[in-house]
Amino acid sequence: MVIPALIEHKRDGGALTAEQWSGLIRAYVAGQVPDYQMSALLMAIYFRGLEPAELTALTDTMIDSGDRLHFDGHPRPVADKHSTGGVGDKVSLLLAPMVASCGVAVPMMSGRGLGHTGGTLDKLESIPGFRTNLSLREARAQVDRLGCAMLGQTPEIAPADKRLYALRDVTATVESIPLISASIMSKKLAEGLNGLVLDVKTGSGAFLTDPAKSIELARTMIALGEARGCPTVALLTAMDRPLGRACGNALEMEEAIEGLRGSGPADLLELTYALGAEMLVLVGAAPSLADARARLQQSVASGRALETFARVIEAQGGNPEVIEDLGLLPQAQAVEVYRAEATGVVAAVEPRRIGRAIVQLGGGRTAVEDAVDPTVGFVITVKPGDPVRAGEPIASIFARDAAGIAIGTAALREAVSIGDTGRLTPLISHRITGRGVERLAEGA
Ligand code: URA
Repeated sequence: MVIPALIEHKRDGGALTAEQWSGLIRAYVAGQVPDYQMSALLMAIYFRGLEPAELTALTDTMIDSGDRLHFDGHPRPVADKHSTGGVGDKVSLLLAPMVASCGVAVPMMSGRGLGHTGGTLDKLESIPGFRTNLSLREARAQVDRLGCAMLGQTPEIAPADKRLYALRDVTATVESIPLISASIMSKKLAEGLNGLVLDVKTGSGAFLTDPAKSIELARTMIALGEARGCPTVALLTAMDRPLGRACGNALEMEEAIEGLRGSGPADLLELTYALGAEMLVLVGAAPSLADARARLQQSVASGRALETFARVIEAQGGNPEVIEDLGLLPQAQAVEVYRAEATGVVAAVEPRRIGRAIVQLGGGRTAVEDAVDPTVGFVITVKPGDPVRAGEPIASIFARDAAGIAIGTAALREAVSIGDTGRLTPLISHRITGRGVERLAEGA
């Protein structure tokens, strides 16, 4: 295989064969293709895209680069959810225990923060002792016992994605529909699922900011899932403002636990119920979305979802008492209230600016090996469209010290703009299935 010739062919708009894709990816995982050649190929894909047959070959090779979770003969149907990434998106923390307590097995495999977006693993690890590096064997045993495991991408699952993802992160090649699709679906399809629900984010804080591109991404992933026997549904959801109020690892864990107690922010609960209802219906655990939602609400009202989360925390090495006593979560050294600078209407709360500030405060990574400070972040209590008065408290900043408070204040000044008008775009704008795209809200 002459790698420069393959890169040249792709760069000039040609398509590689299935054999060429599988040879290339295998050689890369085996360390026989250097990162500089793979980087050039990724950039060629970024500009030229992939033909459907190439995407199929790439995804299948990425799945086959590792092992799979097997649930054959499992008494419960198996489902998972994946979000394309956002700011304040702590849905997985609530959703996995809720859905598991409604009789569906959930091997929730999540990622770490990427760029300005947060990661479920970092949020889980804000609980002291919580271990996310379960092996496939441990994950399967825990799903058998508790109905739910919350883990990171194990070294056995799609190792090709793990290497390519890290390379894309540092070569400006993340924002590509075929590369995102192959990356997400290679991991999810290796989980042995009966159904997958995708939360495809759109808006200024999403990787793909244009709704038309987000819909194309959803359709591409659905086609990959369904062609491999995994029923897949996507909701297109707003990421032009943070989800919920808390942004930052321990702060989001706190808000998730409050949500499981039934008292979280309305948008967080609404999105969690909508995604959970899709999961239950997709795997036949509920006859309709309305019925599924009622079951999920009941799992919260009865305390079953919270109890399931406590058992998962305990099984994975954390202190389950955290669900009763939020003070057991690590606490920021410096906290300051941020007040509205003018009277008017909130025009925007820019998630990208907030996400970047969390990284600056130490709550995210600029290098793969960076440790993350779980305590830092923001609680922002206003959304676009809310009226505010000058001097009114609209956020809190959580930092290590006064320098961090200054970084947080500057970020809020830029992120939160106040004007004469503002509008909250619909939280869930479209539902996308293999049959087509359904618009759920006007003005999306
Ligand atoms: N999440 C993934 O798992 N992969 C991507 O490429 C982007 C978001």
